[in-house]
Amino acid sequence: MIAPMDDIDRIMSVMDAAFPAEFGEAWNRRQVTDALVVGNCRYGLIAPDGSADFGSQTNTAGFFLGRSILDEEELLLFAIAPAHRRQGLGHKLLQRFILEARANGISRIFLEMRRNNPASFLYASHGFQEIGVRPAYYRTPAGTRIDAISQELILSD
Ligand SMILES: CC(C)(COP(=O)(O)OP(=O)(O)OC[C@H]1O[C@@H](n2cnc3c(N)ncnc32)[C@H](O)[C@@H]1OP(=O)(O)O)[C@@H](O)C(=O)NCCC(=O)NCCS
Repeated sequence: MIAPMDDIDRIMSVMDAAFPAEFGEAWNRRQVTDALVVGNCRYGLIAPDGSADFGSQTNTAGFFLGRSILDEEELLLFAIAPAHRRQGLGHKLLQRFILEARANGISRIFLEMRRNNPASFLYASHGFQEIGVRPAYYRTPAGTRIDAISQELILSD
């Protein structure tokens, strides 16, 4: 999926604000651009009013980035900018990601997140279930090790 430069700017504006620096989760512009050039990645954006249609809106509230292989898709990145949190936009964008995955013929969504990320409440409320733990998988710049939690959502017909 080739993204127009405007959309890469939108993704990066959220990326730079959304991910706590100490966990090193944010991707740089090159990583995002390369992922979207490969062809099996897709992204979605959400505006502050909850729509996907930006029109003249200049602010971006959030984005997702997913990568599919056959009928499985990994949710690589998912974020809502701090200024727009706790207003239901995360729910709305995740719902859209799941609906689009289903429409694309995906039967299993997979993701990995650091332990104790509040995003786990969001994922659980959409039916994601924990399927594994990679102990001490992430290392913060300060040297702390944090488990990675794998989750999946099975999409039935
Ligand atoms: C996780 C994130 C996407 C949630 O976005 P949001 O727009 O605030 O989410 P919503 O307002 O739709 O809330 C969704 C649910 O998430 C949970 N939640 C979100 N933030 C929370 C927090 N700080 N503490 C506890 N629960 C939280 C709640 O269960 C909430 O549902 P509720 O309001 O009905 O109780 C956002 O906090 C974020 O971008 N975090 C940084 C990036 C990140 O960690 N992404 C996930 C990587 S795997």
